[in-house]
Amino acid sequence: DKGGYDHYMLKEIHEQPRAYRETLNNRIDHENQRVDLSKEIHLSEDEIRAIEKIHIVACGTAYHAGLVGKYVIENLVRIPVEVDVASEYRYRNPIITPNTLVMVISQSGETADTLAALREAQKLGAKVLAITNVNGSSVARDADEVLLTHAGPEIAVASTKAYTAQLITIYLWGLYLAQIRETQSEEVIRQYIQALSQLPTQVEKLLEFAPTMKQFAERYAHYEDLFFIGRSLDYAVSLEGSLKLKEISYIHSEAYPAGELKHGTLALITNDVPVIALATQEDVYEKMVSNIKEVNAREAYILGITLEGNEEGLSKSVNEVIAIPRTLPLLTPALSVIPLQLLAYYAALARGNDVDKPRNLAKSVTVE
Ligand code: M6R
Repeated sequence: DKGGYDHYMLKEIHEQPRAYRETLNNRIDHENQRVDLSKEIHLSEDEIRAIEKIHIVACGTAYHAGLVGKYVIENLVRIPVEVDVASEYRYRNPIITPNTLVMVISQSGETADTLAALREAQKLGAKVLAITNVNGSSVARDADEVLLTHAGPEIAVASTKAYTAQLITIYLWGLYLAQIRETQSEEVIRQYIQALSQLPTQVEKLLEFAPTMKQFAERYAHYEDLFFIGRSLDYAVSLEGSLKLKEISYIHSEAYPAGELKHGTLALITNDVPVIALATQEDVYEKMVSNIKEVNAREAYILGITLEGNEEGLSKSVNEVIAIPRTLPLLTPALSVIPLQLLAYYAALARGNDVDKPRNLAKSVTVE
């Protein structure tokens, strides 16, 4: 049942405010302004304090959520995090020490490579924490610890609400680690909890951009190549925006760390290659603006995505601007990805593609 929407993907994009609320629900102790995962996580506080490094392993969109996870955990908890795609991890003989925690992320919980990586990690002696959307899935059954994303069933091949629910779960887990390891003050934890609870309403506001994104998408739909650029977390979100666009619109696109462009890729930027530039991270904002000017000088058509309040400044260097509501910097991916999902959806629609069932792809990849 598409609930009145033309496609499951559009329905699932619009279900995100609910998915955020359900994923946060029962995990925050509002009275004490603390994250409480103690009913779900069995690791003792001593075991949590002993973690020396974390490996995050996943495929596709879930891998992109893992990339955000690296920033979140390293910044909040100062534990070193490595992120791998599962099909690489399982064959690379990873270095697992007794105090390594392996996290796997999988919407379906049935992805063959992710499941094999989980088993490989356990064989090498690691405890595995799974973040999955499906209770009772193979990943959920085999993992030592499970945190469920409460996105509800995701039908469209292109993952949307599962990705953002994974982000919310990662934020909760990062904050929980920070509380136990005392790497953040109570005041900072309180700020995160407040900012997290504002996200659903902020997403609702962003969804009102759908008609604008449709216009952009129709303008982009006839191009054959497109670039997404960003720095730090915006780079991680660029990768996800680019995958979404490729997967359903079949437009070739690449995501690039903006500072890396001049090391080769800038040669590809012409007035025939639109650029989507994410500039939501204040600490690298000025650097990002310089990179945007570099692509502007090559006459690329640029859509800038920035924070509310920065639109005017940025509009001098880009053709169009979208502003997302302000939140804490680590939380911006949960907002900035929304316009990119809409862009991919409307681009696929404009090209007459089967949005929910893109060619060559299956919802859950149960073979290697
Ligand atoms: O079910 P999983 O999260 O393990 O699936 C992983 C990928 O196959 C999946 O995210 C894929 O990349 C999506 N189709 C992307 O939209």
